[in-house]
Amino acid sequence: MDRATFNKRGWVKLPYNPELAQWVKHTRPEAVKAAKHPETRANWLRSQGTWFVGVDVLHDYAPLTGPTLKAAQYAMGQDHFDWGKGQFSTCYKGYPKQDTNETGGMLNYRRNRDFAHLDGLKAVGPSRLRKMDEFHGFILGIPLNETPPEAAPFVIWEGSHLIFRDMLATAYAGISPENWQHTDITEIYQETRAKIFKTCKRVELHARPGEAYIAHRFALHGMAAWDKRLDGPDDGRMIAYFRPYWQGGLQGWLED
Ligand SMILES: [Fe+2]
Repeated sequence: MDRATFNKRGWVKLPYNPELAQWVKHTRPEAVKAAKHPETRANWLRSQGTWFVGVDVLHDYAPLTGPTLKAAQYAMGQDHFDWGKGQFSTCYKGYPKQDTNETGGMLNYRRNRDFAHLDGLKAVGPSRLRKMDEFHGFILGIPLNETPPEAAPFVIWEGSHLIFRDMLATAYAGISPENWQHTDITEIYQETRAKIFKTCKRVELHARPGEAYIAHRFALHGMAAWDKRLDGPDDGRMIAYFRPYWQGGLQGWLED
């Protein structure tokens, strides 16, 4: 993996790797089977059935190896970590439709801004105060099927990881890490996000089975709307995501 590019842009694409292609071949049927379970399906279908979110659906999967593992270790800044469960995200034609607990504003944000977010940051309570709830190491996206590039691709704002890192360092200055999750960062987050929209390049990432992409834990990212001119595939666009939790002190999460 091109480390300098990752450091600068906050993401890299991992070129085709036969080991990963094999992994995909084995994992996809498992994922599809798990996702068909009625309870799982009911739990994770959103946006009027146009998106199966599938968080933690992948628990039976072979370890990732070779260049994929190496890239993950670099992005994590650690060689040994627990991969945790994987997400099996499937997006369908027509995404996004308005979800039952979504306001018109939120739907517009989904349509026009790719529902851009910082992983781990939660909107809490009726006033949607933003607080860090989870601390991840990186985001690894592994396409599980062949799709056109316009099928709701992963979207990232280049260089945003550096801007968010500065924001977090400012927001948490003088606050001990165990209190970070209780610290309201709504205002600084919204200001910083607006600045990123203005100054950073928005990039749609498409990859094929056997390829992958890895994003920095502080990168602003989201998912584009399904192109209206695109009819299918009926199976949707399937991606496995891994977002292992940060292990060890949170000071390292912010600085390493
Ligand atoms: Fe995310």
